[in-house]
Amino acid sequence: MDVTVEGKEALEVDADLIAFGLVERSDKDALLPTHLKEADTATGGFLSAAWDRKEIKGKKGEVSLFPLPGGRRRIALVGLGKPADLSLESVRLGLGYLSRQIRGKGVRSLCVHLPSFTLGKLLPEDAAKAVADGHALAAYEFNRLKSERSDPEKRRLVIALSKEHVRVKDRVTTPLNREARLLDTVLWARDIANLPADTATPQFLADQALQLGKDFKLKVTVFDEKKLTEMGCGGILAVGGGSVHPPRMVILEYAGTGGRNAKTVAVVGKGITFDSGGISIKPSAAMWEMKFDKCGAVAVLGILRAAAELKLRNNVVGVMCLAENLPGGSAYRPGDVVKSFSGKTIEVLNTDAEGRVVLSDGLSYVASKHNPDQIIDLATLTGACVVALGIDTAGLLSNDDRVAAGLLTASERTGERLWRLPLTQVHKDMVKGEVGDVRNSTELPMAGTLTAAAFLSEFVAGKPWAHLDIAGTAWVAKAPQYTPSYTPHGATGFGVRLLINYLENLA
Ligand code: BES
Ligand code: MN
Ligand code: ZN
Repeated sequence: MDVTVEGKEALEVDADLIAFGLVERSDKDALLPTHLKEADTATGGFLSAAWDRKEIKGKKGEVSLFPLPGGRRRIALVGLGKPADLSLESVRLGLGYLSRQIRGKGVRSLCVHLPSFTLGKLLPEDAAKAVADGHALAAYEFNRLKSERSDPEKRRLVIALSKEHVRVKDRVTTPLNREARLLDTVLWARDIANLPADTATPQFLADQALQLGKDFKLKVTVFDEKKLTEMGCGGILAVGGGSVHPPRMVILEYAGTGGRNAKTVAVVGKGITFDSGGISIKPSAAMWEMKFDKCGAVAVLGILRAAAELKLRNNVVGVMCLAENLPGGSAYRPGDVVKSFSGKTIEVLNTDAEGRVVLSDGLSYVASKHNPDQIIDLATLTGACVVALGIDTAGLLSNDDRVAAGLLTASERTGERLWRLPLTQVHKDMVKGEVGDVRNSTELPMAGTLTAAAFLSEFVAGKPWAHLDIAGTAWVAKAPQYTPSYTPHGATGFGVRLLINYLENLA
């Protein structure tokens, strides 16, 4: 995305639209806030007239547009909600609403008056990043597969520091430029995740990784079904057995710039290109959404690209566990016992609990071959997580309080919401096998997200590990009104901004 920082007043910037933040007014606020004085004069008093009529209230979700003389330029007032609740997320949401509102209105350049979004409460560099987030993430549209598509509107973003923040121009510019590149990566990841399963096969996703390797100097290794057989990755092979598109496991390695102090973090993603449920087939309603069952693996692609582009200090090893879960004559079946890379045997009670089966190979492979300091997996793993936490919060389960705390901090800072759920011996007991070492389903209608995580914990070789169940947050389809203004229909890219922030904070 194209973003610049100007040490000027917002109205001095030549942009099609100039946006000011506005917090919710109280009954005592009789006068238009002083930061809107010049804008009011420029519109010929339209702002104060609307204010006096109580037409503009500053409520969350409110966006008001006012023309400036000449007809080309406009003023936008962006509601931010109650001043006491102002956060980076209010800024993201506000810009998200604005960005939606001006879609298709020919706005080529948007100037944002930063002080009215920081209100002396948020750091200008953080608020500027949040402005970029809300704007770019909301403007995204997946239209690649439409035959009559208009080119996406290119819109330049200018952050006007005004007198309040003009002294911190350098402090704002570098982080903002990094955020712009990160956002390009999130949108790139969304594009891949939105592709349907006829295109985005395991080999297609492996090819994306190989291309990334070339473009960003990453070491990329693709294990095909022959190699996976040799290695003993019985989980990925079983899940992919019913599809004509054979399974793959992909390893991406980024060497951090931190030298000897660099930690190695493994990120492992569930990449089911389509999850029909297999022989334990799903009902057909909304089954199409299961093209998004690869979102964990696509997040891994995004994380590796951003790590390389932003030259992070720590080493990152990405693992993509790729398979298509279909029924068929060569599909795995309920009752089968498969042997994972770790040597442990998995009793398959339900072929629809396939995510944990592919992850068992990826987790144990990376734990033993790359000796990471910690492992974080991302997976659209359980419908139970959507029942428990809804569609705006992902589940966090971990065997390590420090890793969990770091992720919760990153969550707070990025707005990619997490909620920690418990993982106890009871849940581990629940996934003990009858004829195999572990079973992939308890077939009990309880603690589905927790028992799935307990299953995964068997394959991390005792390493510090966290599991992110992104089943509810990886895409938007049902109930879009309950998702943030900056996540349009389709894949959200959830996990990329979160993990990059986490990796940046890691000492
Ligand atoms: N990919 C699904 C989980 C899912 C369901 C994500 C709906 C988002 C929306 C996963 O593979 C699955 O089918 N899980 C089963 C597990 C069960 C059979 C133990 C589930 O959640 O029902
Ligand atoms: Mn499934
Ligand atoms: Zn699945």
